[in-house]
Amino acid sequence: MTERVLVTGGAGFIGSHVADIYVREGYDVVVLDDLSSGRRKNVPAAAEFIEYGVNDPQARALLETGGFSILNHHAAQMDVRVSVENPLRDERINLGGLLNLLEGARQGGVRRVVFASSGGVVYGEGSALPYPETAAKLPVSPYGVSKLASEYYLGVYALLHGIEAVPLRYANVYGPRQNPHGEAGVVAIFCSRLLRDDPLTVYGDGEQTRDYVFVEDVARANLAATRGALPALEDLDDVAFNVGTGVETSVNELARTLLDITDSDLAIHHAAPRAGELFRSAIDPSKLAATWNWQPQIGLADGLKRTYDWIASDQ
Ligand SMILES: NC(=O)c1ccc[n+]([C@@H]2O[C@H](COP(=O)([O-])OP(=O)(O)OC[C@H]3O[C@@H](n4cnc5c(N)ncnc54)[C@H](O)[C@@H]3O)[C@@H](O)[C@H]2O)c1
Repeated sequence: MTERVLVTGGAGFIGSHVADIYVREGYDVVVLDDLSSGRRKNVPAAAEFIEYGVNDPQARALLETGGFSILNHHAAQMDVRVSVENPLRDERINLGGLLNLLEGARQGGVRRVVFASSGGVVYGEGSALPYPETAAKLPVSPYGVSKLASEYYLGVYALLHGIEAVPLRYANVYGPRQNPHGEAGVVAIFCSRLLRDDPLTVYGDGEQTRDYVFVEDVARANLAATRGALPALEDLDDVAFNVGTGVETSVNELARTLLDITDSDLAIHHAAPRAGELFRSAIDPSKLAATWNWQPQIGLADGLKRTYDWIASDQ
């Protein structure tokens, strides 16, 4: 029987690639999005589109009566700085919205929830890199707290109501359709500056690192998380999976790779470091590889070229 899946945030960057892969794999796909940062044109033509917010009573009612077996939850307030300035807004959308959907999901008989968590914000900086799922948790922003708290709520719904939950802890996701506000916003910002022939600005010495994972690899991880058999839930980390490459890339390397692939000799300027940034980050994807045979397939230069070409064509 065809499985029916609700993708929240499916008009956004990552959610739209997730909706694409579900459509390609023959799922019956419905996208729910309030278009606050997403775009209608990102939604695949074969998916039904519904413009509700995650806090709307209609969103809950849709899950209660819509016959969904899978909820794939990507809609979120996902700007770290907004969460610092307005933690109540972050809490309302990311936690209140999640609970509204989960209440609908349990009434509607949803079998599994796949959730977009973040490996960039739930771990503290104390452990050795790259962080495994079991690394110490110490979010430093309200956004990080809302992602980790969401994982706890999902665990409770699994224990109380038998809804399987798979939090995917993403590294810095980049690729076509990304916007400058996400956790890998630097890629979009650099590409746009290159297209305008503006010098690239690097904050601090540029040796701060991130783990960049291509969005189509992330979409494949969502498919694996939808289909795969789940480990038993004794600890939150048992059912959570890092989705990254395990490789640290510095901002300087990122800038140089972009200059290389675009044959550009634009200058790189340095500016004062920004407060509140982690200095180094990378997450270990070996559990996802061992459990569901997932490997990142798109390397950084190839992925950056595809992202740059898309941003150029979207101007
Ligand atoms: N981009 C990254 O590197 C990254 C890393 C870790 C986790 N994530 C998570 O992945 C998810 C998707 O992020 P993205 O980068 O694709 O961002 P995005 O802004 O492109 O996508 C978010 C989508 O959710 C929609 N949305 C926002 N608030 C909503 C609401 N209240 N009701 C309904 N829809 C709403 C937006 O319109 C948008 O289409 C988020 O949950 C984010 O926290 C992203």
